Amino acid sequence: MSEQLSPEYLIHLGQQFGTPLYVYHAEKIKEQYNKLTTAFSRTNTLFFYASKALTNINILKYIGGLGANIDCSSINEVRLALHAGFPPERILYTSNGIGFGEIEEAQSLGVIINIDSLSNLEKFGQKFGHSYPVGVRLRPNIMAGGNLKISTGHDKSKFGIPVDQIEKVLSLVRKYNLHIVDLHIHTGSEIKDVDVFVKGIEILFDIIPLFSELQFIDLGGGFKVPYKDGDVETDIQCLADKIEEAFSNHPNPGGRPLQVWFEPGKFFVSECGYFITKVNVIKETEATTFVSVDSGFNHLIRPMFYDAYHEIENISNPHGPLKPYSVVGNICETDTFAWDRTINEVREGDYLVFRNAGAYGFEMSSNFNSRFKPAEVLVKDGKAQLIRKRDQFEDLLRNQIEL
Ligand code: LLP
Repeated sequence: MSEQLSPEYLIHLGQQFGTPLYVYHAEKIKEQYNKLTTAFSRTNTLFFYASKALTNINILKYIGGLGANIDCSSINEVRLALHAGFPPERILYTSNGIGFGEIEEAQSLGVIINIDSLSNLEKFGQKFGHSYPVGVRLRPNIMAGGNLKISTGHDKSKFGIPVDQIEKVLSLVRKYNLHIVDLHIHTGSEIKDVDVFVKGIEILFDIIPLFSELQFIDLGGGFKVPYKDGDVETDIQCLADKIEEAFSNHPNPGGRPLQVWFEPGKFFVSECGYFITKVNVIKETEATTFVSVDSGFNHLIRPMFYDAYHEIENISNPHGPLKPYSVVGNICETDTFAWDRTINEVREGDYLVFRNAGAYGFEMSSNFNSRFKPAEVLVKDGKAQLIRKRDQFEDLLRNQIEL
């Protein structure tokens, strides 16, 4: 197990690099990847890191170096993956709702492509016929995931081609002699119950025999990580056992064993991330004691957008008496990170760290209120290195055209 970064060390990084600051601990990413490969050592499985969770180029390179593949949700993520050194055959591009031009570009770059609409599948058939292998993203009509905003497989979701339209997919396959090599489903994020994945493949088992050239089954991402005490992590070993069992009960009618793919994002990088902020102001009110930090939803939007819980620790006063506080940002809009949270006594100038901030933290940040995006630091082999400079004033004007 990789050690957590200590409060003293995090304070030191806050002082050295300034706040707000994202810190990523490389060894934790490795530990998570090892959990996956160890659990699935008996099955023919590949893991594609869902890079949308965190795309800093150094993180991509590190994950590539571990041996993982990469999943991209835009052509720019594909370009970043190539830049990080992933060869095209280890890059998966799972598109949704995009113009066909982007799919043509992905094809020209030689990456693996999953298509999620009949419309783009038809265009793909017209242009490439059987010449370029392709995957189809299906919507299994399963409700799963931490909350509705991060559920993607249900029957009102925009993602994927609804499974009940499989006849239409098949008629396109026949019409254009499409070379379908994988079937993809992704039901949501923060799925604790491994049976959701099992249910997903069971739906696919009915469909698999309809595609004679299949090689891969892509079950998407969505493994849960614990955000607070008592939270569970998806039981990866149990998942691996159940997937193995399911496949041994359903040998591929085509004879060729199918390889299983997963696309975890949070599981790789959530827990490696620490978001360090500094307390600007403490304000006593009748309702609560506000602690305003030098950040807001412009830097970490998950609590406001998904009601997500992030543990907040006063690393400057870890033994102070416990008191209730509402931790807010400095944005001119309500940006409550936590309401009535029990934290060790907070003083102005203290450093507060948000845990589990690696996934969809920096990645979803913005320059709202013309504030700078935070800097990012990678801690690897005991050494801390700046991997993204904090914005500067010029960055706010960059790309603006002053008339
Ligand atoms: N594959 C596909 C096709 C996806 O859409 C996603 C996430 C993943 C894989 C990775 O899911 P993960 O393993 O990270 O749960 N911003 C939200 C999460 C949105 C996830 C969107 N798609 C959050 O901060 O909770």
